[in-house]
Amino acid sequence: MMENINTQEILTIGNVLIDTTRPMKERFRALFTLRNLGGETAIQCISKCFNDESVLLKHELAYCLGQMQDKNAIPVLRSVLEDKQQDPIVRHEAGEALGAIGDPDLRELLERYKDDSAIEVAETCQIALERLNWVANDGVTEKLSKSPYSSIDPAPPSSTNDIKLLKDTLMDESKPLYDRYRAMFSLRNMATTESINALGEGFKATSALFRHEVAFVFGQMQDVRSVPFLKMALEDTKEHEMVRHEAAEALGSIATDECIEVLKRYLQDPRPVVRESCEVALDMSEYENSPEFQYANTLLAVKAQG
Ligand SMILES: [Fe+2]
Ligand SMILES: [Fe+2]
Repeated sequence: MMENINTQEILTIGNVLIDTTRPMKERFRALFTLRNLGGETAIQCISKCFNDESVLLKHELAYCLGQMQDKNAIPVLRSVLEDKQQDPIVRHEAGEALGAIGDPDLRELLERYKDDSAIEVAETCQIALERLNWVANDGVTEKLSKSPYSSIDPAPPSSTNDIKLLKDTLMDESKPLYDRYRAMFSLRNMATTESINALGEGFKATSALFRHEVAFVFGQMQDVRSVPFLKMALEDTKEHEMVRHEAAEALGSIATDECIEVLKRYLQDPRPVVRESCEVALDMSEYENSPEFQYANTLLAVKAQG
């Protein structure tokens, strides 16, 4: 299927993505279809949407560009990171995406924002810088487990498998976030009850960025044992919206009746990022519970119409 796709069809999917009259869940499916297709036209279609009103959509654009690991996306990601008019959640994701692309030339840019007034952005750039160092040095020699989720993580897993040590590092507020992220990804990869409970403790960390990453890895794991933690995060209306957003999407990917019930309750949340996340998450949960072939199926929908 991928081989038959032509530029015109990619542009048609791009038109779904940019269409503000369409429901957010359709635009998300279009975005993931473009991410999976990759290439310059897909990157152009994604790049055109950074003046959209939806913070949720824009942060996801940046995330997808990072995961595509294509240097063609560097200029647009750079401009988003530099644009202080953009929401910190969007700028954070642009910084993280640049770290994921991992080009050593980006060091200077990331250095400039590692003390940004938006703490989410500053912390992201600190972590991304550490990742660049790792890619340049240990990344080559260190034989570390790959992400079982084929994601480009903001940090590699830790070099230890000692659960006690990992738990301590995860919650040690005196340690750099990068080290604590490494512990987080190791605990994710273990996927035991003990490691999941340790990750759940992570919601008590002071850094909102850190807490949102805990919710994100729970979404990757799709493990029902994390539901109580995720529910608590989404239900806490004083929690940072970035964390609640990530908790909502994680619940959508776990997709049990309990998850669906809580997501429905926040469909009218006063915060757009949260309510849009619940909409998208419920769409994902429908997919998880249906025999539908793939979530990112805008291409098939486009072909059926054409
Ligand atoms: Fe994020
Ligand atoms: Fe997110």
